[in-house]
Amino acid sequence: MRRKIAAGNWKMNGTSAALAELAAMAADLPKEPPKVVICPPAPLLFRAVEATRTTGISIGAQDCHMQASGAFTGDISAEMVADTGAAYVIVGHSERRDAHEETNADVRNKAEAAHAAGLTPIICIGEALEDREANNTLDIIGGQLAGSLPDDVSASNTVVAYEPIWAIGTGKVPSLEQIVEVHDYIRAELVHRYGNTIGNAVPLLYGGSVKADNAALIFEAENVDGALVGGASLKAADFIPIVAALA
Ligand code: G3H
Repeated sequence: MRRKIAAGNWKMNGTSAALAELAAMAADLPKEPPKVVICPPAPLLFRAVEATRTTGISIGAQDCHMQASGAFTGDISAEMVADTGAAYVIVGHSERRDAHEETNADVRNKAEAAHAAGLTPIICIGEALEDREANNTLDIIGGQLAGSLPDDVSASNTVVAYEPIWAIGTGKVPSLEQIVEVHDYIRAELVHRYGNTIGNAVPLLYGGSVKADNAALIFEAENVDGALVGGASLKAADFIPIVAALA
């Protein structure tokens, strides 16, 4: 039985007032919830960890640097993320790959830094619209998997999130068949590289315009083990129904 995970990525949204949403989420979790991970902006990490300490909600960062320390103004290391009490870190989100020109090798280095710090990286991959229209989706995904995932992946230390870039924040969601095709492909690639035991146990999340009204359908796919949710993770009222659909 693979871990089910509902992860929320707040992106660059939320000041300390948003911590109230964590309390609201904790209060409304379903009876037997999946793993819930919220990734607030970095300045909120310490307080988010405090606010969720007794709730079962885990906290993650949205990025980390690949180096342990040094002259990298404005960056935060995986060790610093772990020091806040956070347990997860998103790496390779398409908004970082795009706006910060992060390569597959950068993402792999960040995932390795996360592992070294005891964090679970949520490694993001996904094709652009032009890739899909050119029928290159699986090639792109295969290349990102090969280049972005470290060799020391285990069932418990890594999560992979498939986020088609054209579905992020657009309200456009791939068909269930498209989601199934990509997730089955990712699963097969993980098994090929890491073997049956590990490859079949790494959780695979879908991300891109997941909402309360489409979550249940997306979660029908055998190799979808949860979601990485952006906009709909900001408010408990929007996020809890997604969590409940996975429970
Ligand atoms: O990390 C989350 C994804 O980018 C999805 O964002 O749910 O707002 O489309 P979205």
